[in-house]
Amino acid sequence: MNLLAQIDKENTPNHIAIIMDGNGRWAKKQGQMRLYGHSIGVESVRETLTAAKNIGVKHLTLYAFSTENWNRPKEEIDGLMNLLVHTIANEVDELNRSGVRLLSIGDRAGLPIECQEELASAIEQTSNNTEIDLILALNYSARWEITNAMKQIGQQIQEGKLQPNDISDEIIAQHLTTDGIPDPELLIRTSGECRVSNFLLWQIAYTEFHFTEVLWPDFKEADLYKAVIDYQSRERRFGMVSEQL
Ligand code: IPE
Ligand code: IPE
Ligand code: MG
Repeated sequence: MNLLAQIDKENTPNHIAIIMDGNGRWAKKQGQMRLYGHSIGVESVRETLTAAKNIGVKHLTLYAFSTENWNRPKEEIDGLMNLLVHTIANEVDELNRSGVRLLSIGDRAGLPIECQEELASAIEQTSNNTEIDLILALNYSARWEITNAMKQIGQQIQEGKLQPNDISDEIIAQHLTTDGIPDPELLIRTSGECRVSNFLLWQIAYTEFHFTEVLWPDFKEADLYKAVIDYQSRERRFGMVSEQL
């Protein structure tokens, strides 16, 4: 069955966010080290990005490293950071060829300096591309992001630039690292875990969730299409009743 033909082109999500999970379990099943799973996971990123672009998705946010992931063994963290630096450096030309603008969310200043530099350079080099945004969540934690926004807003109040009564949804959103990026319509999590793990807590207020058993290194074009078809079967009511839609 042709999955692509089943997708309603008028109703594709503008923004898809993905919690790419299961690399370690995938590697273990192959009798390999966890890092091997992460490196094969990069293939899934490439394939998912192409598939998303294919169906007209404009923003793809990928949870690549959470603030809590710093608690993993040092060897795995070092390997992941290394993979990140090399992947970004290797992919910039391809991102430019396919019109991908790279962005990041999270606490960039807390990443190793080589990562910060490679990321900043790739972001700069791809900044004029308009086909799709690839947004990497790196050293990301939604609670950190919201706390950080509160600090910035508090500072503005203290300086007399803002009144407490002026605080609104929009003002809060402007102080998140996702400022300027619309909320995701669809959140996918692979590997069978059904939790949010501190991802985009503010932004997913009305997002549809799709959980799949597929481990991230096995996630392919067809899996993205299946998630979108599932999304398109939902009735998004935003607090209203069916008849009002
Ligand atoms: C997701 O895969 C990638 C990162 C969190 C960096 P995991 O490494 O969490 O894989 P599992 O969940 O242990 O299988
Ligand atoms: C969430 O996966 C973070 C990323 C995919 C980067 P984890 O594997 O770290 O989440 P938990 O620990 O299972 O909740
Ligand atoms: Mg995991």
